[in-house]
Amino acid sequence: LHVTWDAVTAEKGGYEHFMLKEIHEQPKAIRDTLAGRIKEGLIDLTQDLSFTEADLKKFDRVHFIACGTAYHAGLIGKSVIERLVRIPVEVDVASEYRYRDPIITPSTLVVVVSQSGETADTLAALRAAKKAGAKTLGITNVVGSSVSREADEVLMTWAGPEIAVASTKAYTSQLVAIYLLGLYMARILGTRTEEVLKKSTEALIQLSEQVEGQLIEAKTDAIQSLAKEIAKHEDLFFIGRGLDYAVVMEGSLKLKEISYIHSEAYAAGELKHGTLALIEEGIPVIALATQHAVIEKTISNIIEVKARGAHVLGFGLEGDRELKKSVDRVITIPDTLPLFTPILSVIPLQLLAYYTSVARGINVDKPRNLAKSVTVE
Ligand code: AGP
Repeated sequence: LHVTWDAVTAEKGGYEHFMLKEIHEQPKAIRDTLAGRIKEGLIDLTQDLSFTEADLKKFDRVHFIACGTAYHAGLIGKSVIERLVRIPVEVDVASEYRYRDPIITPSTLVVVVSQSGETADTLAALRAAKKAGAKTLGITNVVGSSVSREADEVLMTWAGPEIAVASTKAYTSQLVAIYLLGLYMARILGTRTEEVLKKSTEALIQLSEQVEGQLIEAKTDAIQSLAKEIAKHEDLFFIGRGLDYAVVMEGSLKLKEISYIHSEAYAAGELKHGTLALIEEGIPVIALATQHAVIEKTISNIIEVKARGAHVLGFGLEGDRELKKSVDRVITIPDTLPLFTPILSVIPLQLLAYYTSVARGINVDKPRNLAKSVTVE
């Protein structure tokens, strides 16, 4: 048993769980997914995609289709493509997409996102989109997977094997692939100035080092002590606006699937339309507030829930002074361009879920009822 244990521990790189190892592998996964795709400070995907300028010009809408965490990457993708390329984007969970009789034309670019490349719902959606005449692009982490073989085009993530059921480095690598796609399309189609593209590409290149800085012991210890508090609760809310809302949906899924705490991610502006009734004395609310454009509004939502007794944990940018005045505790996130904060803001949420699960004595890598790749519908 001792030998086996050593072998498995070695496989975990000395980390207690695969999930923690994979959280710490994110700086490398981000660098590896960027490698070879930035030339002279600009994005070049000609090694990956055979789209010509004429092909790209033809697209008049994009659909992101995925499940679970990959779906949450697609939500970020909507903002990335709409802000950089200025064409409308729809995002669907694969199990819904197939049955809603979607409007698909040869000018629709369907992007399926799947770490395993074998998720039954996502594959079925890919096949339906192809049959309906859409151009399809697969973003996947497994070479030779069904998605990589069946999509017309493939943009691989290079996160390396992801063993833990809870996806972490695959998610941030999917975001990198989506940023690459958006910046590349914007460059070829001229929908953003060279200056904006260069600044954005610089921000993208900086992310891996910034994530490295978020994974130092002092930072992870702070999250670990927060997790011990969170672990005592059965219900919890995440709130955010815009990109922060899309990221807290991922943070909430992470917490649910490995700590079994019932948490819900809510658009901060929506609370007053009903859910505020659930806020009572002492309930933890995690507020993500990184988007300058809506920070004032998010802070007023924080004041709303605090007035009803919530215990608010704020996650905000290092430079921010407003947030800390209105929350019980602040976890800071390095500053970057607003569009690129999701890769940084998800890191403390991944760590919070991980340490909460550990605090509850749960088998982090293999939570109950779940499989790593859902190959059944
Ligand atoms: C993520 O933590 C979950 N394990 C799950 O939601 C996963 O993201 C989903 O099943 C999609 O898997 P895929 O990326 O391999 O298609």
